[in-house]
Amino acid sequence: MLLDTYGRQAVDLRVSLTDRCNLRCTYCMPEEGLNWLGKPELLTDEEIVRLVGLAVRDLGVREVRFTGGEPLLRPGLVPVLAACAALEPRPEISLTTNGIGLARVAPALRDAGVDRVNVSLDTLDPAVFQRLTRRHRHQDVLDGLAAAEAAGLRPVKLNAVLMRGVNEHEAADLLAWAIEHRYQLRFIEQMPLDAQHGWDRTQMVTAEEILALLRTRFTLTPEPSAARGAAPAERWLVDGGPATVGVIASVTRPFCRACDRTRLTADGQVRNCLFATGETDLRGALRSGASDAELAELWRAAMWGKKAGAGIDDPEFLQPARPMSAIGG
Ligand code: 5AD
Ligand code: SF4
Repeated sequence: MLLDTYGRQAVDLRVSLTDRCNLRCTYCMPEEGLNWLGKPELLTDEEIVRLVGLAVRDLGVREVRFTGGEPLLRPGLVPVLAACAALEPRPEISLTTNGIGLARVAPALRDAGVDRVNVSLDTLDPAVFQRLTRRHRHQDVLDGLAAAEAAGLRPVKLNAVLMRGVNEHEAADLLAWAIEHRYQLRFIEQMPLDAQHGWDRTQMVTAEEILALLRTRFTLTPEPSAARGAAPAERWLVDGGPATVGVIASVTRPFCRACDRTRLTADGQVRNCLFATGETDLRGALRSGASDAELAELWRAAMWGKKAGAGIDDPEFLQPARPMSAIGG
């Protein structure tokens, strides 16, 4: 089991498959991109499957979410997913993607054993999309969403980050559109995880503001709290339900106490928190011949050292050295 000193157990593994991306969302990366990891630094497909297998068999992991960067950019993605879906006990498998290229691969993902996808979509306006992501790919994302739904990767979840003066005016429109298409929308407070360190607390659109924006058009009532569990999103029934909307208040109302995550970066480092300042090198151990038992022990120790919370709202908060795209959402 992956336990920590605060009594939490990590059962949800996030695996970053690449730090590369074909978008340049302003809250994530600079225009010119980043110094991408080189091939020798990346875990190989076999190494990923070995570590996921170990997590599932020996460490109590029940759910595996593949992220990036943009995970669809990883060559060999589908076989990796299929190998993970063939593990015993079979973990639940999902993918967080920006949706580009999803239209093409959605059926193959489904066949490989992917249960669900989360797609990032911050705007319904192609011009705003271009401003936010610095790429003209809005239609590709919409096509990807439709294909995911058609392929049965349901429920398709949408992640939206609101940026002040850029897309905050679209909050209610996004929700109406998501409900119409039967996508489950969640808004995420912007976190200090951008490579360029441009995050500014005063510029962040808070969960409270998001709810106020939505309430100009919808009636929101809290979903019974028992349904939340370790899920970071607080969910609201929209106009009495059954449609819901989630708000992930990572900054203003952190959910660290219920956190059940463990993370593996594309270069084989375990992180016990998105905001951890340290990492545990599994790749080095693995490549110098460590046994499964030794790797499991390193992973357990990494999680045992997990802090109580990230404290993003604390004045002493320090942004991690690696950006979101290298850690994996
Ligand atoms: N703050 C909040 N969410 C972010 N994402 C990427 N960077 C940030 C950030 N700085 C979102 C993406 C994606 C998910 C993995 O995290 O939009 O939906
Ligand atoms: Fe790419 Fe996601 Fe970062 Fe946007 S937020 S640049 S889609 S990794």
